[in-house]
Amino acid sequence: MIMETIIVDMKRGTDKDSVSRAGEILRNGGLVAFPTETVYGLGANAMDEKAAAKIYAAKGRPSDNPLIVHIAKTEDLYRIAEEVPEKALVLAEKFWPGPLTMIFRKKKCVPDGTTGGLDTVAVRMPKNEIALAMIEAGGGFVAAPSANTSGRPSPTTAEHVAEDMNGKIDMIIDGGEVGIGVESTIVDMSGETPMVLRPGYINKKMLTEAIGEVTADPALFSVAENVRPKAPGMKYRHYAPRADMVIVEGTEENVVSFINEKVREAVRAGKKAGVIASDETAGRYCEGTIRSMGSRKDELSISKRLYSVLREFDSLGADTIYSEAFDTPEMGQAIMNRLVKAAGHQIINV
Ligand code: TXA
Ligand code: MG
Repeated sequence: MIMETIIVDMKRGTDKDSVSRAGEILRNGGLVAFPTETVYGLGANAMDEKAAAKIYAAKGRPSDNPLIVHIAKTEDLYRIAEEVPEKALVLAEKFWPGPLTMIFRKKKCVPDGTTGGLDTVAVRMPKNEIALAMIEAGGGFVAAPSANTSGRPSPTTAEHVAEDMNGKIDMIIDGGEVGIGVESTIVDMSGETPMVLRPGYINKKMLTEAIGEVTADPALFSVAENVRPKAPGMKYRHYAPRADMVIVEGTEENVVSFINEKVREAVRAGKKAGVIASDETAGRYCEGTIRSMGSRKDELSISKRLYSVLREFDSLGADTIYSEAFDTPEMGQAIMNRLVKAAGHQIINV
């Protein structure tokens, strides 16, 4: 079914009338894509099972993959979470609004259609003025996955959202390019010890400094494809470009010469080859389409460009992509987690 998608420009600030209109769409069971500090979200009323079902249809998302409920004030957490441990409050105080999602045992009022049938609910308060205003206007509880077609890289601009969602949803709010570029850190607070299920901008060290011991889902560090992660959505070959992608790890010298050799071979074989480089190395690659993710000294520049570089290779019709590894100090885990999935776990050590 094709519908008209209203696109609203809020790059220069929050426009109250359009926010009320977005709120009305949400309260009536419609879908609104909106900016957050991490990636663009595709929002629906989290308390309305039928509305949540529309998200799965628009994205082509498997229905066992639960949605994150976005709130605009901490007290609303108590309306959907059955138990809020003290440590969760410490994290909320320190990191909300911000790129942190916490998982709690859910209250009955949260429909199964929002949580994929789980008895837990993921909750986050995004750090974006437009998002917060829209959530309030929409009734306070907005279920929102990333606003991409399932399996494609997450959107970091409204143009990316339009590529995937135009004609399928009611409204897209353009708030400009996001600031972080990879999805929020997910921490499960429903067990004995808090556990990171998805790495993000807020890393384990920051969490440990705030609340003491935090574990991490062992599946996050496994390069094997058959280890099942605890967050249902983490099992999919997500974030993937259409090209065959390989990550090349090793010393800078070895990586650059290996990639140059492979790209030369690919180009000779008549393939469209791409290279994902850094500002420090981009000038050392010879053939193929070379894109820098940014400087290794500025991790946010890298996380912010990651998905748009992958999308760009899609639109250029790349057949094969060779990427450097980006194991940077603070966000390396989050960046590599997405890259490794984009590459379908193909990593070569040279
Ligand atoms: O930064 C973000 O979190 C973005 C923006 C839009 O807020 N949202 C986002 O949503 O990344 P999505 O749907 O693309 O990813 C949600 C992840 C999935 O891996 C899902 O399986 C997991 O969170 N998840 C949601 N509820 C869960 C639950 N109750 N238990 C375990 N994992 C859960
Ligand atoms: Mg997603």
